Amino acid sequence: MDRRTFIGLAAAGAVLPRRLSGLDWWPRQETRRHTLRHPAIVSGEGLTLTARPALVDAGPDLVDAWTLNGAVPSPTIRLRRGQTARIDLVNELPEHTILHWHGLAVPQEADGHPRLAIGPGQRYAYEFRILNRPGTYWYHPHTHGVTAAQTYKGMGGFLIVEDDDEEPYGLPSGEYEIPLILQDKRLGGSLSLAYGLGMPHDRMHGYLGDTAFTNGVADATVDVSRSRYRLRILNGSNARIFDLGLSNGDPLVLIGGDGGLLEAPVRMERIMLAPAERVDVLVDFSGRRPGERVMLRSLAFDVPGMMGMMGMPMGRGRGRGGMMMGMGGSAQGTAMDLLELIVQDSPKEPGPPPPARFSTVPGRGRVTGATPRRTFTFSSSMTMGSGQPSHTINGKTFELERVDERVPARQTEVWTFVNDSELPHPVHVHAGQFRVLARTGGRNRVMPWETGLKDTVLTMPGERVDVAVRFVHEGLFLLHCHNLEHEDMNMMLNFEVYT
Ligand code: C2O
Ligand code: CU
Ligand code: CU
Repeated sequence: MDRRTFIGLAAAGAVLPRRLSGLDWWPRQETRRHTLRHPAIVSGEGLTLTARPALVDAGPDLVDAWTLNGAVPSPTIRLRRGQTARIDLVNELPEHTILHWHGLAVPQEADGHPRLAIGPGQRYAYEFRILNRPGTYWYHPHTHGVTAAQTYKGMGGFLIVEDDDEEPYGLPSGEYEIPLILQDKRLGGSLSLAYGLGMPHDRMHGYLGDTAFTNGVADATVDVSRSRYRLRILNGSNARIFDLGLSNGDPLVLIGGDGGLLEAPVRMERIMLAPAERVDVLVDFSGRRPGERVMLRSLAFDVPGMMGMMGMPMGRGRGRGGMMMGMGGSAQGTAMDLLELIVQDSPKEPGPPPPARFSTVPGRGRVTGATPRRTFTFSSSMTMGSGQPSHTINGKTFELERVDERVPARQTEVWTFVNDSELPHPVHVHAGQFRVLARTGGRNRVMPWETGLKDTVLTMPGERVDVAVRFVHEGLFLLHCHNLEHEDMNMMLNFEVYT
């Protein structure tokens, strides 16, 4: 099927009544896959990022995207620990924008708080020293009320911090290190990245897609040699949670999370990654047959308690067949093939295995009975009358300038995130990474990928998660749900760090 036929079919699908049956509107032949793209690698010293619309190749066709420097994903910025980043943002979009360096501890002027957003034609100069551990971070828009739309349309990329500490481990690098931004988008047969939050359903659950995108390419495929790879994986979706696994049953060897390496590698069958979370995993293809196809997929899962939010069950579906009737996008927890990896006929070269242990993950200070505590309760409900959902933290919605919490600098505190709703909420804290201490209710434990430094932690319905925080920079920072629709609907607050 050539490109034109594909578009023709897709367009025809859009007007056929059977599309609304929700089950079999998509063309029935095997999914056509498109070659994975690798983002450009740039240095963060003297970098200019220009936000502008551009036509980019999404695989099946070109789409109108919003970009930084004309590409999706945005360039991968590599910086060393201790280095000072100097990055200029130029806004050539028709609306305000601002960029946030997710996971990095930076001064408030560099944090991309929405009150700092710049209008069309304006420029913003960022300067910040890299204090974070080496690891996989990212950057994305943080514009009041339109973070979801701007991110969905294509803005955002990796920021990878390196230093000499990781070198002795001999982890796969160069072509054997692949950063992957996993997202879901709603093509609905129309091959556009049009983003429209029409239905209350989208405003409740977030904008769930029907098609897997990897590095901006729909239904992507990549050739790998018979070697060991390091995959740096980011869930860059607006609302989709991925439960990652490999189709051939091989383990994902988990080595890192939001804030760099864990203390030891762990073999995992599945890894649940919420929006904004990252993991570094090793996958060894050296024992695989040339020609073998391995699928990185998101496995089906149930969201506890997610029943009847909209007067209908939200149970899992299967692939595109899991499409919700008349709602667009597949239900949360639907299985989804993400990225196909095709093993090439190359010499067997696994390279050195990872060491049994990495270094100790820094704590956030000693926690005792006297450690100050705060609780943040995340609630979602339908507002009577308007029929619109509302998402709150401690009963409040975000106001740009209101200071909700005052937090002393350089002091350890325990923050408890309580999910008092029937929806998942990935909770994200700016200004510095935290350690997860405990989870009670729901999954009832700290997951292996949560044992390093974290900046985003998933709370499922009914869960309470305790984390230890400690901040160094003074100023106004954000705490919010990283379901981007929830965030844009003001499930966010300001905290002020003071000395
Ligand atoms: Cu990744 Cu406040 O965001
Ligand atoms: Cu952030
Ligand atoms: Cu949320």
